[in-house]
Amino acid sequence: MSVEPAIAAQPSDKLGLKIPAHVAVIMDGNGRWAMARGKQRTEGHVEGVKALRRIVDLSIRYDVKHLTVFSFSSENWRRPRDEVNFIFGLLYRFVASDLATLIRNNVRVRIIGTRIGLDDALKRLIGEVESKTARNTGLELIVAFNYGGKAEITEATRRIAEAVAAGRLKPEEITEATLERELYTHGIPDPDVIVRTSGERRFSNFLLWQGAYSELVFVDENWPDFGEATFLKVLEEYSARKRRFGGIESSNS
Ligand code: FPP
Repeated sequence: MSVEPAIAAQPSDKLGLKIPAHVAVIMDGNGRWAMARGKQRTEGHVEGVKALRRIVDLSIRYDVKHLTVFSFSSENWRRPRDEVNFIFGLLYRFVASDLATLIRNNVRVRIIGTRIGLDDALKRLIGEVESKTARNTGLELIVAFNYGGKAEITEATRRIAEAVAAGRLKPEEITEATLERELYTHGIPDPDVIVRTSGERRFSNFLLWQGAYSELVFVDENWPDFGEATFLKVLEEYSARKRRFGGIESSNS
């Protein structure tokens, strides 16, 4: 069995690009990609996993530090049961087939979202992939699975209210940092850029708090078509933006 060498970061400064530390992606358009080819929607999700592998490799090569991907939203339960089961199965298959590669490439995996509604086997799998990659120091791959931004903020608020009710916290002590500590993403810097594929221009309940100052980049390609050309287009658009965070400076760092 041949073992592929680990992917290495390549210097990209000669391309004149600013590399966002944290890229977040709404991987949209799998269904439309499939339908346009007379295939089942589920085949679009299978191709979507291949695009996920490509963006993980690209993030390593271009030295992105954190990559968050929206792979199942709390609203996706409204889809037909078969499709929901298929996407859950894809997470199992992705972990089974890619864990060794992720470890070899020094990728740390974190899965964010509510564990409510997930069966014990899936919860075990999440625990396993997180613990087996916890000491890796390269790209952090954050998979938003069973994730909803409103639910995340609601859960955080409930825990803070419980702390106040128990006398552990005074209302006047609550700051933005208090809330951030209770989010699934605690310890992860906010995304510099949120990308959505397939031409749709919505947040769809993704990283509502964390995306307050993210640059938004919308690309027309459906997710299964995402590759290096689209990734470079995103980096070029991001590099041209002036980030002010409500102030007047125009540096984009
Ligand atoms: C959006 O396309 C995609 C999803 C809801 C699922 C995304 C899932 C993957 C890319 C693969 C899963 C990966 C893991 C690791 C679980 P859509 O179905 O909403 O497309 P449409 O808008 O064209 O119908």
